[in-house]
Amino acid sequence: MTRHAESDDPFMPSALHDLMFGHIHSAALRAVAVHRIPDHLADGPRTPEELASRTGTDAGALRRVMRLLASRGVFREDDRGAFRLEELGQPLRTGVPGSQHAGVVMITSPMFARSAPRLQDTLETGQPSFDYIYGMPFFEHLLKSPEDRATFDAGMAAFSGAEDELVAQSYAFPPDSRVIDVGGGRGGLLGAVLRGEPSLSGVLFDQSATVAEHVLDRPELAGRWRTEGGDFFTAVPSDGDVYLLKHILHDWDDEDCLRILGSIRRAARTGARLLVVDAVLPGNSAPHPALELDIVMLMALKGRERTAAEFESLLDRAGFRLRRILPTPGLPAIVEAVAV
Ligand SMILES: C[S@@+](CC[C@H](N)C(=O)[O-])C[C@H]1O[C@@H](n2cnc3c(N)ncnc32)[C@H](O)[C@@H]1O
Repeated sequence: MTRHAESDDPFMPSALHDLMFGHIHSAALRAVAVHRIPDHLADGPRTPEELASRTGTDAGALRRVMRLLASRGVFREDDRGAFRLEELGQPLRTGVPGSQHAGVVMITSPMFARSAPRLQDTLETGQPSFDYIYGMPFFEHLLKSPEDRATFDAGMAAFSGAEDELVAQSYAFPPDSRVIDVGGGRGGLLGAVLRGEPSLSGVLFDQSATVAEHVLDRPELAGRWRTEGGDFFTAVPSDGDVYLLKHILHDWDDEDCLRILGSIRRAARTGARLLVVDAVLPGNSAPHPALELDIVMLMALKGRERTAAEFESLLDRAGFRLRRILPTPGLPAIVEAVAV
């Protein structure tokens, strides 16, 4: 096997090795996250025996899993065999700013991990492998499985928590306007937007089970928001000045995106703004952090990450004109459009 070009170490795994064993890294990360091992290392190193007795896990198995992750910089093992949490592993703790714990638990969950080995079927049919395994589309499954719904919503909130403030600060929302976050999850982005400009009001719109878990009940936001449960394929709240769609269009194929955009266009007055907050892919195969997500969309949903030209064409067909694309310091960009 070709080893990493930058290393002469004969034991340094090759790039091909890492690609081949990616699911093992993912499973190891999930195992320590689910058992909250990183939380038990918050105040210093511990041996696998100490960790095992605190978490009800098997010390021998835990040592081997932690050894693999230590080889990748998540933990570091000292001379007495105790492990400490490295900087890379800090976001695996719960309850710390920027925690990715729920995001890791979501993206490594059976919902996605079971679909991955069937990607080959998706190549043959073009259809999400999730649908054969679960017998129904992804979001229909979430309606029927409160446990997976909670895992998904918490994971999205964790991923979004890292980017909501960055997105909110990257756009000058017109004062006194009403912002409607369509498919806004638990309201992390809407909360950040309202905090940034005191004259704004907002509506959090999503499926009822999701808005029921909203995070908007904060003193500084009092009286400036409401929630509404519903189906964005049918109708969304009207009279918004700014409509937000964050990580929504990437979940759906063009036909379904046109149905969602159609609901917004029917609800919005001409001149209203639409902000699509999603990754914008380059038009080539250059590395981009949304490429893995694009495959998640392919195998679990009917979605895709899109290029600027693809967004422009979709928006145009739905009665919106793309005005500009603003970068944010995080993964997503803000595609600004206006209802025409
Ligand atoms: C990928 S999440 C994005 C959530 C949020 N915008 C964010 O960035 O964290 C997709 C959201 O679409 C919502 N959703 C899916 N189907 C829906 C529908 N038919 N009507 C309303 N919301 C829906 C889900 O409940 C979920 O919160």
